[in-house]
Amino acid sequence: MDAAKLRETVLSRLKTVTYPGFSRDIVSFGMIRDVAVDDQGRVTVTIVYSTEPDRIRQAIEQAVVQVIQGIQDVQSVEVRATHREMARPSVPQKQPVPGVQHVIAVASAKGGVGKSTVAVNLAYALKELGYAVGLLDADIYGPSAPIMLKTEGEPTTDGRRIFPVPAMGLKMISIGFFLPTEDQALIWRGPMVMKAVHQLVWDVEWASLDYLVVDLPPGTGDAQLTLLQEVQLSGAIIVTTPQRVALVDARKGVTMFRRLETSVLGIVENMSYFQCPKCGEVYEIFDRRGGFHAAKMLGVPFLGEIPIEPRLREGADRGEPVFLCAPDSEVTRAFMEIARKVVDALPVPSARQ
Ligand SMILES: Nc1ncnc2c1ncn2[C@@H]1O[C@H](COP(=O)(O)OP(=O)(O)OP(=O)(O)O)[C@@H](O)[C@H]1O
Ligand SMILES: [Mg+2]
Repeated sequence: MDAAKLRETVLSRLKTVTYPGFSRDIVSFGMIRDVAVDDQGRVTVTIVYSTEPDRIRQAIEQAVVQVIQGIQDVQSVEVRATHREMARPSVPQKQPVPGVQHVIAVASAKGGVGKSTVAVNLAYALKELGYAVGLLDADIYGPSAPIMLKTEGEPTTDGRRIFPVPAMGLKMISIGFFLPTEDQALIWRGPMVMKAVHQLVWDVEWASLDYLVVDLPPGTGDAQLTLLQEVQLSGAIIVTTPQRVALVDARKGVTMFRRLETSVLGIVENMSYFQCPKCGEVYEIFDRRGGFHAAKMLGVPFLGEIPIEPRLREGADRGEPVFLCAPDSEVTRAFMEIARKVVDALPVPSARQ
């Protein structure tokens, strides 16, 4: 194979190496600065890092060497490392969001488990406890906050900053406000998603908040990576359902956050059971306590279980948190308890000390 062809093969193999814990590959993420191949089949790959911890670097480099070594005609592989700060100036990594005391991400490996429900109602519960709370809906593929919360108008701007929308006592911003059409999100590519999330965090005038709750899209994609690399998060909450496979999903979530040095505040189990309002009998529709066991196995706190509550879904479709559409429900009580646990797990917001 001539050197040019070999270089092409090397590049295509590098595209199979994903960032540890995430679904994005290191090439499309811009981590490959250079690939050099000489006539003897000696390959030199230069990787550009930002603030990756050593074990992430090692994992990436091992994977790089492994995929290249397997190529016919490759005689040797050398990996060189360089630093993004030196390569090109970028946003300083892992910054606190100005005016916000605690940023909390709500995530799950799978879709439809109730992330947005948890994000919205946790934010509302924190507000009920007397805190100033914001909600950032970063779910590019299915923004829900503008549906789940009645809003007062649209976001405004003074040409420099974006002002969040008042929504039932919260400050809210959703990527949904900036999508021209509903199916627009489907064609957004990685870099656009990253830019959008970046803007929602840094260009919005959040001040002053005690807590900013971030509703993430499902999985381990671009939005998660951007947030975890750029923002100093106080912690993450992983939402799961009671099935036994919850462990597999929860582990993916925990791994993703741990990889980028973000602490996991705990696991919330949603749709834990259904209690018949007529006879009082409890039905465990989706199996039992998968979230609880996952938390135990993964060594993270279990924050609570949320039963299935039809009024919760009906309220969400009308823009009402469960606190308004079912104030007497077990779900409302569960969210209050989860909110208290979150408050207890983090340093007291300084304005409240
Ligand atoms: N405990 C519950 N009881 C009844 N309905 C619920 C419950 N939790 C969530 N739902 C309903 O299930 C649906 C999915 O919930 P939600 O949108 O919060 O999930 P999600 O994880 O954010 O989904 P996606 O991955 O698409 O963003 C919604 O209609 C919501 O109202
Ligand atoms: Mg959602």
